[in-house]
Amino acid sequence: MMAHFDDKRRQFLQFAAFGTAAAAWPGFALAEMAKMTNAPSSAFKPDVEIELTARAGAVSIKPGAATRVFQYQGKLLKGPASTLTGMPGYLGPTLNLVHGQKVRIIFYNQLAESTVAHWHGLHVPQKMDGHPMYAINRGERYVYEFEVKNPAGTNWYHAHTHEMTATQVYQGLAGLITITDEQEQKLELPSGEYDLPIVIQDRRFTSDNQLLYLQHGMQERIRGFLGDTILINGQIDRIIPVKTRAYRLRLFNGSNSRIYKLGWEDGTPLTAIGTDGALLEKPETFPYIMLAPAERVELWVDFSGREPGSDLVLHSLEYHGVMPHMGGGMRGGRGMMRDGLGQGSKFPLVKFHIAGKTSESPQLPPVLSKFKRLTDRDVANPDKPIQIGLSMMHMSPELNHRSFEMLAVSEGEKIPVDTIQKIKIVQEDHAMRGRRGMGGGDGREGGGRRGGGMGMMMSMAHPIHLHGQQFQILSRLIQDQHGSGYETVKDGFINSGWKDTVLVMPGEEVTIIKPFQDYTGLYLYHCHNLEHEDMGMMRNFLVS
Ligand code: C2O
Ligand code: CU
Repeated sequence: MMAHFDDKRRQFLQFAAFGTAAAAWPGFALAEMAKMTNAPSSAFKPDVEIELTARAGAVSIKPGAATRVFQYQGKLLKGPASTLTGMPGYLGPTLNLVHGQKVRIIFYNQLAESTVAHWHGLHVPQKMDGHPMYAINRGERYVYEFEVKNPAGTNWYHAHTHEMTATQVYQGLAGLITITDEQEQKLELPSGEYDLPIVIQDRRFTSDNQLLYLQHGMQERIRGFLGDTILINGQIDRIIPVKTRAYRLRLFNGSNSRIYKLGWEDGTPLTAIGTDGALLEKPETFPYIMLAPAERVELWVDFSGREPGSDLVLHSLEYHGVMPHMGGGMRGGRGMMRDGLGQGSKFPLVKFHIAGKTSESPQLPPVLSKFKRLTDRDVANPDKPIQIGLSMMHMSPELNHRSFEMLAVSEGEKIPVDTIQKIKIVQEDHAMRGRRGMGGGDGREGGGRRGGGMGMMMSMAHPIHLHGQQFQILSRLIQDQHGSGYETVKDGFINSGWKDTVLVMPGEEVTIIKPFQDYTGLYLYHCHNLEHEDMGMMRNFLVS
C-alpha cells in the first residue's frame, strides 16, 4: 500500500513538474492525491449497496481447458433482490438500477495490478466517475456513491486504468447496467425472459484456450485488436431459444475495436427503440445498424409469424472505409489478417431459434419517451463550437494534436458548469491529406499505396466517447463521400437519440450538443477504440 502511495505521489509530482497540471488546475490539492482510499460517507443514505470485487478467475468458454480471465464479482448488501443478475462467462453481474436510486458500490481490487471502475454512460460526480487518477492497488478499496440521474436505458461498467483499459476489459472487466424509470414502466415493454442482453465481443484464443491479445506489434495496435472468435454474453456459438412474440434486445458492443454492422440474414429491417443512453422518442427502422465499441442499441424484435423450429441469424454485414489507409506495410483497408475476421467482413453473430409458439405478444408503443431536442438556441456557444480534432500523425492517435495527460487541461478544454455546449468532432487527417495532395484513398486498397510510411497521416474511424451527460447529434457532414465506403455504413447511424459514443468516419465531421450540468471536475473524453485510448487518444475537460 505504501509503495503504491509513493508511486502515486511520484507520478503526481512528475505531472506537476511539467507545470501543466498545476497551471491548469491550481485548485487540485496534493491532499486529494494523498487520499488513496476513501470511506463510505455517513451523509449518503444508499437505497442500494453492492460489494464489487475485481479478481482473477477461470471460466469455461471453449471445450477443454478453462480460460483465465479477470472478473467482477458482485454481492448485494442492500436493495431489491433484482438489483444484480448474473451473466454467463467472465462478464460482471448486470446492475439493474432505478432512476432516482442512491447507489453505493464498495469496490475491492483483488487483482495483482491497479484498477478503477467507470460507470459508462452514467452522470455522476467526478470522484465517482472512475478517472484513472483514482485507480487502486491490490487489496485496496474504493467507495463509489452516486444517485442514478439517468433515464431508462442500457449502460455498462468497465475498467478505466491508465494505459491498461484495453487489456483489463479484454480479460473480462466489464458488465452491463440497466436503468428503469416510471415513464418506461408505463410502456410495458417485453420484460423478464423477453428482455435479453446481447453483449458482443471478439476474442482470440491460444490452442489451450487462453486469451490472446495483440501479437503483431505497432501496426496491429494502431488498427485496434480484432479477434477471430465472436462471443455473445461471454459464450461461443450462441443459440438463443425464443418464442413467437416480441422481445426487447439490448445489444452492446463490448469489443476493444471491432465495429459491427448489425443486420438480419433475411433482410428484415431492424426496429430500434433505444440508443446508448435512453429510449428513442419513437421506434425507428433501419436496414442495418452500425454498432461501434461502447455503443448500445435496443431493438424491438418480433418473432411472431415465424415457424417454430426455424432460425433467424443476426449478422455483422460487409462494409468498407473504416480502417487506416496509408503506404507501407499495412495490409488491406479492411484489416484482413491471415487467420482472422477482417474489420468489415461478413459473419454471423448470434442465432435465434424459434423454440415455442405463443399467441400473446405486446404491441410496439408508438411513443417511447419524451425529451427536448437540443438546438443552437440551447447552447452557450452556437458560433464557437468546442473542437475535438482526430488525428493519427506518426502512428500516434491524438485529440487536437495532444496525448493524454492525467490532470492537464488546455484552454479549449475548460467548460463552465451548468452550460450546454456545441462540440464539433472533426477528422483532421482527411483535410490535411487533401491539402498535401496525398490522394483520397478508398479504405479498401491501403496495402498498395506508396510514398506514405509511418509519418503519413492516416484516416480511420474513431468511436468518440464523452464522460458525463449524454449528448445529441446535431449534424453529420461527410466530405468526399464518393468511393470512401461511406455509402456502406451511412444508413446505419441512429442520430435521433441520446448518445455517449459516436462513430466518426474518415472525412467526417460530427457536431453534437452536450450538457455539462450539476458536477464540476475533470471529465474524460476519448476514443473508445481501447487500443487508441491506451495509446493516449484521451483528454480531460475541466468543468468548473
Ligand atoms: Cu467506456 Cu472513458 O469509457
Ligand atoms: Cu480511435
